[in-house]
Amino acid sequence: APPPVRNICFIGAGFVGGPTAAVIALHNPDVRVSVVDRDEKRIRRWNSKHPPIYEPGLNKILRVTRDGSRESLCDFKPPAGWETRLSPSSKTRNPNLVFSSDVARSVAQADIVMVAVNTPTKRRGNGGGSATDMAAFEAVTATVAEHARPGAIIVEKSTVPCRTSQLLAIHRPGVHFEILSNPEFLSAGTAINDLLYANRILIGARNTESGRRAASALASVYASWIPPERIITTNCFSSELAKLVANAMLAQRISSMNSIAAICEKTGADVDEVAGAIGADPRIGSKFLRAGIGFGGSCFKKDILSLVYLAETLVLPEVAQYWRAVVDMNEFARNRFVTRAVKCLNNTLTGKKVTVLGFAFKKNTNDTRESPALDIIRALEEEGPAEIAVYDPLCPPTQMSEEIGRFAGNGALQSNGGSVVVYSDVYAACRGTNAVLITTEFDEFKNRAGRSGDQSRPLESTQTPSMRLAHAEDPLCPIPPCSDDCPDCQVEASSTLSFTSNPEQRRTTKMDWTKVYYHMRRPQWVLDGRGVLEIESMERIGFRVESVGRCG
Ligand code: UGA
Repeated sequence: APPPVRNICFIGAGFVGGPTAAVIALHNPDVRVSVVDRDEKRIRRWNSKHPPIYEPGLNKILRVTRDGSRESLCDFKPPAGWETRLSPSSKTRNPNLVFSSDVARSVAQADIVMVAVNTPTKRRGNGGGSATDMAAFEAVTATVAEHARPGAIIVEKSTVPCRTSQLLAIHRPGVHFEILSNPEFLSAGTAINDLLYANRILIGARNTESGRRAASALASVYASWIPPERIITTNCFSSELAKLVANAMLAQRISSMNSIAAICEKTGADVDEVAGAIGADPRIGSKFLRAGIGFGGSCFKKDILSLVYLAETLVLPEVAQYWRAVVDMNEFARNRFVTRAVKCLNNTLTGKKVTVLGFAFKKNTNDTRESPALDIIRALEEEGPAEIAVYDPLCPPTQMSEEIGRFAGNGALQSNGGSVVVYSDVYAACRGTNAVLITTEFDEFKNRAGRSGDQSRPLESTQTPSMRLAHAEDPLCPIPPCSDDCPDCQVEASSTLSFTSNPEQRRTTKMDWTKVYYHMRRPQWVLDGRGVLEIESMERIGFRVESVGRCG
């Protein structure tokens, strides 16, 4: 029988550690789960009503596990084929999830220590720009070696290079620690669902008696809610490598479609139609075929580069080159988009305003790490426009300004003499603009039922065609000021779309593209970098639309 697990400690209170610990605590009420981080400010936020990250459903689970409050969990509906183990009744229970900055003490009490700290790309030195920076991970393992109790199981939750489990020096004289690999497959924006209804749990262990015992102890924690056939055990190196390969394969699909998008734009083929046609083959599958301005996020690029570095160190240059091409194609997609935008605007942005809609790396998150929007803003900046307006329905404007300052230099912001202005209202961001560029696929920006799996309804404009015409001919329109009886401005009173500081209260309000049209400069260009627009209805309003993978 596996050793009993009564206490689990997560090191690293971030995107992985926080939500994973919360769901493990939810389904294992008899296990005490602690999440530690040396950053006390971060821990204070986890202990407050406003955790440092936003994930749909997370707060509800925290209320149950951290605060022990009665909470109905009925709305976590299982997908087909799952039997829910979440009790619909609201039983009181003892809180079993704690957040603390006392790292040594929590580690010392744990049967299982999960290391979930950042492993970014190494910036300089040997392997700089592609190898994984193991500094934070190593610092943590030294603490673990010092404080963990004999027999504790150490788990690599962070994404680490293949063979880390062997290279790790977690030992104290006379004490052996079993090291497992248990990579995370959750996505930003759907983390709680990905954890509650995981398609697989991967556990890598040494093929020894103590390795197998450790793996079954960890498996028993997941078995509280994950069907046994979804818990896969492999050797440590396969598990470490599988994490990198999973992300590399997903990213490779996107880059493949982006390469095809470039062909579509020159031939009259439509990349969505191509994706639909090939995705109907179950061997290919329909997911992750969305062309656009390429993938962002903290993981894809970093993990591919780690794979590239691994291949290089193994003296497999052809393999390294193959995977590097996935990253190169991603950059090509962004560059092509900016070039197309500039071309629409007569090859000059001098004296012009352009609007960037969407700053997060994907919809339904305020995570902006490696966001394509950042690259696009920086490239537009180079063209010297009068203004680059930026709007995002979920990213706080102050956070955006800080990030743009960090990424493109503080001088990029208009407040410091540059051209970037961050808005909290979408219509203000679009007012007087020469072109709108869509850089994140938020439902707010759509004017059609989206692609596969998206249930959102197309935009219904509140204006009649004749009202629109009258407005277009109004010499005072489109740009300010609009007269009081301007039908467009009557719309304004009823439809606002602005940044929501509390994402839990966010109501997805569709943007009124007709209204945007009248407030833009002619000719009203929209460049759809995420394929969210139905071109014909945009053109009926009067827009000129360019969309990735479709002929303009
Ligand atoms: C990704 C993986 O999907 C997770 O399985 C993995 O656990 C995670 O990385 C990780 O390693 O931590 P995430 O980065 O949250 O998750 O985001 P994705 O939903 O995978 O999207 C990544 C990027 O690809 C986004 O910028 C998205 O807009 C873009 N994308 C996605 C496309 O351009 N086209 C698509 O068809 C799908």
